Amino acid sequence: MKNIVILISGGGSNMAAIVRAAQRDDWRQRHGAVVRAVISNRADARGLAFAREQGIAAEVVDHKPFATREAFDDALAATIDRHAPALVVLAGFMRILTPGFVARYAGRLVNIHPSLLPAFPGLHTHQRALEAGCRFTGATVHQVTAELDHGPILDQAVVPILAGDTPEAIAARVLTQEHIVYPRAIAQLLPRLQEVHAS
Ligand code: GAR
Repeated sequence: MKNIVILISGGGSNMAAIVRAAQRDDWRQRHGAVVRAVISNRADARGLAFAREQGIAAEVVDHKPFATREAFDDALAATIDRHAPALVVLAGFMRILTPGFVARYAGRLVNIHPSLLPAFPGLHTHQRALEAGCRFTGATVHQVTAELDHGPILDQAVVPILAGDTPEAIAARVLTQEHIVYPRAIAQLLPRLQEVHAS
């Protein structure tokens, strides 16, 4: 079975959309894939309760006790690896990952970013798109590489920016499209991934 591990930090609406797509489109039967675990760096991440309700392992690796990013990433990887992931999905995971972590999951680590990359990597994407006078923005699903919010693009969704828009209004419009594009990108990627066996 190709195990999917999803990392979240907050609401987890993208994670929930992926879990629902996996159920609705029967990824187990169609792709031999299953969402095995949801891991958060914050114990108060709302998405953890949803995962537990779905019978998915939900775990917390709090970043705060770790003195360095490397130490946190090592602990995170140890927790992830217990689930033998074919794919690690960043879904609103708001921690910068070390090059060592990214290398460990090379080719099987994906992210969704709320802009049309390569425009607006980093934070405050909707505010920046507004200020730049963009007529369109959106979301990008991409492979994760060592450079933040770069890496090969797997899929994108485009939304208009409308007169009178606020960053919050744009965020809500983009998020509804994220829930479509992220499961779609993962479903297209799954046939290219290898099953990983627990060691
Ligand atoms: C999403 O909009 C996602 O694109 C963004 O955080 C939100 C998470 O929402 N990710 C980033 O900004 C990553 N740098 P969710 O927790 O409801 O899925």
